[in-house]
Amino acid sequence: MKAIVVTDEAAGTAGMTLVERPEPTAAINDVIVQIHASGFVPTETAWPSTWTDRRDRDRTPSIPGHELAGVVSALGYGTTGVSVGQRVFGLADWHRDGTLAEYVAIEARNLAPLPGDVEFTVGASLPISGLTAWQGLFDHGHLQAGQSVLAHGAAGAVGAMVTQLAREAGAYVIGTGRAADRQKALDFGAQEFVDLENDALEEVGGVDLVFDVIGGDIQKRSASLIRAGGTLVTVVGPPEARPADGLAVDFVVESDRAQLSEIVQRVRDGRLRTNIGTVATLDDAVAALNPTERIKGKTIIRVRP
Ligand SMILES: NC(=O)c1ccc[n+]([C@@H]2O[C@H](COP(=O)([O-])OP(=O)(O)OC[C@H]3O[C@@H](n4cnc5c(N)ncnc54)[C@H](OP(=O)(O)O)[C@@H]3O)[C@@H](O)[C@H]2O)c1
Repeated sequence: MKAIVVTDEAAGTAGMTLVERPEPTAAINDVIVQIHASGFVPTETAWPSTWTDRRDRDRTPSIPGHELAGVVSALGYGTTGVSVGQRVFGLADWHRDGTLAEYVAIEARNLAPLPGDVEFTVGASLPISGLTAWQGLFDHGHLQAGQSVLAHGAAGAVGAMVTQLAREAGAYVIGTGRAADRQKALDFGAQEFVDLENDALEEVGGVDLVFDVIGGDIQKRSASLIRAGGTLVTVVGPPEARPADGLAVDFVVESDRAQLSEIVQRVRDGRLRTNIGTVATLDDAVAALNPTERIKGKTIIRVRP
């Protein structure tokens, strides 16, 4: 099969190459999915799991990409819950070969049905950003209607989902980002916008939940805005700051079939809009994943035409 591989950690995404790889085989509870569309997170080449397996052994050449939408083509021993020919989407294991390929082996529990009226490119854009936003707001942030959320990077992949889901849940959302992102963040539903390069973040006053996708100084300054009993949720590593009277939580997104179904249902009925910037073929993927211009939304690779 055709696949993108990485072999050189120092080279990052510039080291991606399109090669021929053996098709994967299905282990117990696995599904083989013929991939129609794949999503990639630009920071993947910085994740240890891209380079080593769960025993920390070198697993290169590794196939990056952990989001997929496609059609089930085979089932492993004992696999239940999905059937051959079914449209699915989901989140692939961090430590196994990923989705920038024509086929992937993935545990059935990491997949959810993809309704027939949702395009594969849209399905592949949802798992990481949608589940991260959902889990950060509701499982870890325990967001309640009437609370306020500071949604960093609100025009980015995760931030756009955070902004929309928080609004739908009845929160007041202050989006942040670069100056050029203002209108996009407002279009996703932010009620206010802070340009992090030119506005004073401190002027937003107190908030109940900070959803951090940036870290560093922005995270530290945001922590001090959190009201008593509030939460800093971060997805960029262990918290570097804590609210004076609240919680700081960091987490890595997990697959969840029920949450994937909630997310795709919202896309179908118009409550949630995905944030795709570019769609490229697998043949053009290396160039598309090494852009010369600033990324404006997720890059999705259309593996099958
Ligand atoms: N732990 C987890 O489970 C998990 C899950 C998903 C994502 N993540 C991490 O979360 C981060 C964001 O992911 P993403 O896919 O949402 O990325 P993204 O689409 O690039 O969104 C990030 C947004 O924040 C903006 N931004 C970053 N630094 C900024 C700064 N200093 N000032 C103003 N705006 C800034 C970016 O603008 P520019 O593009 O101009 O920088 C972009 O619009 C990544 O580090 C990713 O690895 C973690």
